[in-house]
Amino acid sequence: MNLADKIIVALDFQEEEQLQALLAQLPDLAFVKVGMELFYTAGPDLVRRLKDRGLKVFLDVKVHDIPNTAFGAINTLSKLGCDILNVHCAGGFEMMRKAREALVGDTKLIGVTQLTSIDQQTMNKELLIFGTVEDCVLHYAELAKKAGLHGVVCSPNEVELIKSHLGKEFIAVTPGVRPLGSDVGDQKRVMSPAQAIQAGSDYLVVGRPITASPDPKRTFDQILAEIGVTV
Ligand code: C5P
Repeated sequence: MNLADKIIVALDFQEEEQLQALLAQLPDLAFVKVGMELFYTAGPDLVRRLKDRGLKVFLDVKVHDIPNTAFGAINTLSKLGCDILNVHCAGGFEMMRKAREALVGDTKLIGVTQLTSIDQQTMNKELLIFGTVEDCVLHYAELAKKAGLHGVVCSPNEVELIKSHLGKEFIAVTPGVRPLGSDVGDQKRVMSPAQAIQAGSDYLVVGRPITASPDPKRTFDQILAEIGVTV
């Protein structure tokens, strides 16, 4: 795999002009993530246009609904030809199974385990999910694999655990990536790009460290250099 394919830049913008300005600055960019913010503004056609430009697209709308509705959502979204789509593992086994059944084409379906903005205290005290974050993430990942999903979204901290139980082929996509010295923001379970690659992450999702950088190209190139040195 081309090393640049491992960095998925999160296009968390509301205006398409902001996205176009960023794309113009990052000629080596290969993989982008369209989240709810941009998808709700720009709509499905944006995914087709990004694909037409030769970019890979992770459509991160985190489907979480009753199984029948999740089936419909994933069926229609996978027809857009995106490379990766996701559902929340918290929607349960049957929802994930129906979502997997709905998938068409070559799109990979992955499950969001625990958001990287959730730490153990929040998970235990607010969500009333007991045990450690690692226990919960591994449990969700096992359910996702049983339901036929291709992988999960998790923090880089949990990748080794997941791969050791579920195998190297089970894809781990990791947000919560922060180059040393950059602002952590609302993320709680973070690692640097080099550490995340060393831990076995297949794809690193990086948003604000690049999109809010005064020099996005420089930051992007630094991240590429950082992971290039370690793989
Ligand atoms: O700006 P930042 O690098 O924190 O962006 C991370 C991106 O990954 C955001 O678009 C966020 O929605 C997404 N994400 C996440 N944690 C998850 C799943 C997705 O941060 N578990």
